[in-house]
Amino acid sequence: MSESETKPTSATRVCPWWMCYTFDNPLRRLVHQPGKLLGPYLRPGMTAMDVGCGMGYFSLGMARLVGESGRVIAVDLQQRMLDVLTKRAARAGVLSRIRTRRCSPDNIGVNEPVDFILSFWMVHEVADIPGLLEQLRAGLKPGGKCLIVEPRWHVRVPRFQSILAAAEKAGFRLLAKPRVRFSRAALFE
Ligand SMILES: C[S@@+](CC[C@H](N)C(=O)[O-])C[C@H]1O[C@@H](n2cnc3c(N)ncnc32)[C@H](O)[C@@H]1O
Repeated sequence: MSESETKPTSATRVCPWWMCYTFDNPLRRLVHQPGKLLGPYLRPGMTAMDVGCGMGYFSLGMARLVGESGRVIAVDLQQRMLDVLTKRAARAGVLSRIRTRRCSPDNIGVNEPVDFILSFWMVHEVADIPGLLEQLRAGLKPGGKCLIVEPRWHVRVPRFQSILAAAEKAGFRLLAKPRVRFSRAALFE
């Protein structure tokens, strides 16, 4: 990834909390089913991270998959996202499995090693993508997996390829490119 792509630009824009409702709503289950998408990677008792978790659409699904003995660390820049996530998790009865963490733009602030990381429609919003990928790589346990999913309409093929190249430079190994609706996805270890 060239240096200019790692700097904040006018194209680097964080999704405001209210915009989250345009895609994180009951209709989403028709296209993104957390159990089906993430079931192959999560087992009861695992520790998982949902980075750029937004209002927790996937964090709640992940909490169900890791079960009572597991944990989900839900990380986001915006407190408002984490507040909605907390309410939803309480309603769904999975709050005890979730830890929320408000982070800064250049530091996810999670030191605990995890078995699995999900980054769903988040990487393209980050100014320093190589820096983020290095933090994610450092946060994975040996053998852990990381699934990066980006929206097709914001992230065209060349940009996605540059994200994949930056991930490999950070030490990830590409395992597969799972099919995810409206998205480009890559699974790493
Ligand atoms: C488009 S939303 C996707 C939310 C969620 N992953 C989903 O699929 O419903 C992107 C989220 O990433 C968060 N985000 C953007 N940059 C971030 C950063 N540097 N660190 C952590 N979160 C970030 C935003 O606050 C926003 O909640």
